[in-house]
Amino acid sequence: TELKNIRNFSIVAHIDHGKSTLADRLIQLTGTVAERDMKQQMLDAMDIERERGITIKANSVRIEYPAKDGETYILNLIDTPGHVDFAYEVSRSMQAVEGSLLVVDATQGVEAQTLANVYQAIDADHEIVPVLNKIDLPAAEPERVKEQIEDVIGIDASEAVEISAKTGLGIPDVLEAIVNRLPAPKGDVTAPLKAMLVDSWYDPYLGVVVMIRVIDGTVKKGDQIKMMQTGATYKIDKLSVLKPQMVDIPSLGPGEIGVFTASIKQVRDTKVGDTITHDKKPCAAPLPGFKPSIPVVFCGLFPVDANDFEALRDAIEKLQLNDASFSSEMETSAALGFGFRCGFLGLLHLEVIRDRLEREYDLDLITTAPSVVYKVHMKDGSVEDLHNPADMPDLTYVDHIEEPRIKATILVPDEYLGDVLKLCQDRRGIQLDLTYAGPRAMVVYDLPLNEVVFDFYDRLKSVTKGYASFDYQFTEYREDNLVKMQILVNDEPVDALSMMVHRDRAEQRGRAMCEKLKELIPRHMFKIPIQAAIGGKVIARETLSALRKDVTAKCYGGDATRKKKLLEKQKAGKKKMRQFGKVEIPQEAFISALKMD
Ligand code: GTP
Repeated sequence: TELKNIRNFSIVAHIDHGKSTLADRLIQLTGTVAERDMKQQMLDAMDIERERGITIKANSVRIEYPAKDGETYILNLIDTPGHVDFAYEVSRSMQAVEGSLLVVDATQGVEAQTLANVYQAIDADHEIVPVLNKIDLPAAEPERVKEQIEDVIGIDASEAVEISAKTGLGIPDVLEAIVNRLPAPKGDVTAPLKAMLVDSWYDPYLGVVVMIRVIDGTVKKGDQIKMMQTGATYKIDKLSVLKPQMVDIPSLGPGEIGVFTASIKQVRDTKVGDTITHDKKPCAAPLPGFKPSIPVVFCGLFPVDANDFEALRDAIEKLQLNDASFSSEMETSAALGFGFRCGFLGLLHLEVIRDRLEREYDLDLITTAPSVVYKVHMKDGSVEDLHNPADMPDLTYVDHIEEPRIKATILVPDEYLGDVLKLCQDRRGIQLDLTYAGPRAMVVYDLPLNEVVFDFYDRLKSVTKGYASFDYQFTEYREDNLVKMQILVNDEPVDALSMMVHRDRAEQRGRAMCEKLKELIPRHMFKIPIQAAIGGKVIARETLSALRKDVTAKCYGGDATRKKKLLEKQKAGKKKMRQFGKVEIPQEAFISALKMD
């Protein structure tokens, strides 16, 4: 295909603003998929994505569009992951296309996540076409939202396309805008092959499938290719385009987007952002700015039932086939037994993986408190990456500790602003900016990632009744007065409850933890001290008094069914208990104790 007849684009949108519905419409209107094959939301491949309404893996579709100018165009849509955890993958897929549709729900307006993604599109020099969706709804305010796009994002919205992805209204205008307002790709067909690895995934029948965008040269089936970062070479077995199902194609030239298979064993062997070239006739230099995605949030995953360890190992391995950014290492905990220390790109990534392990593999898991990676500077000058607070080296050898900081952007209706500021302040935040966009405030905070990983989203949602939107990006590692706090139950340290805290907050946090645990741990036949300690020093203490009466005593021995129910409830509760020395701690205590109110 000639370059001038190609348009490559992505869709930038906040969750629920209608990205998938619009993509479905574009596919449908151009007859890319026969009507009877049209599944709602074709592009969200995985059930879990559909259920959670989140698009995780980039997908793509090639559309043939006969435009009003009489020419037929190839439109390549790359579906980018919508969440900040996948920021690096988003930025690479943005590099692979020349333009973006910015979809904004005309009843809602711009959200924090939209901002982050649209800035990435601007960074990638995209031409951006604003699209106002859901104008079929009476609450739609297209004029106000246009103004907001101009005020907040700073791009011209006067020619925004007004559509309803639901009814199909305005979809032909979107197609014309793609052709007329987005630039054609550039490239040199005579140069050696240079292609970007945009995405890859594991297909049970085909093995690893790699999506590429050709920059220069041509790639054909049977070619011997080389991945420039990893140095590995492969022979292309199958070359296809996605419509969105795979359709084989003999070759792909500059500006084109497609997928190939090449007997690649694991997704791990394919690095998003890598440069692909011919083994024998390589291009002069790889694409700039390659960086691998690295896990930033770690937590321990342990089976509730020790017999499930092998099943957990298998399940983790299966998920890793398709997700190279999720790492795992075996871990033993005195309290929790055998399990895995796992690394994730962010909180949402962690939640998705944990959910899949529990639901798809039917595992009952204990998740320890998520922790960020601290940089521990030792007195001898070495620096250790601390992934698990339980592994904190002896303080006498430690010079100082650095923690990751983030820049968080929160958009919130004015009436909740006070609560949001308080929340950020409580989490050791430093305010960087506060501006207004219509009735909503945009606050920017510098926050320790550590204070955000646990329940920041939940708290933010609850104090704003769900009206705030939040987004963050990593900024730097910075020194602070951080210490490891241990929790002792009945004088035994429970390593799964160890955490890193700021020295100034330690007492407060320790007290809150002990109080919570006192409520969460059932009473035993003996008195149980619950303590928080730093080093050898106890900073908070609670005592759980001994149980005196039989639990069934209050049933007066009369109502047998009620008694039976109570005993059954106890039995069910027991399944989710863990034994710590002489004390049984319910599974939910591990998470609940760490939540801060
Ligand atoms: P994620 O995949 O979660 O990022 O969401 P999305 O942006 O792809 O949104 P999606 O297309 O799933 O649409 C979200 C909801 O809005 C769905 O319930 C759609 O049916 C609805 N919706 C999408 N477009 C329109 C529209 O034009 N009008 C109305 N009334 N509803 C719409």
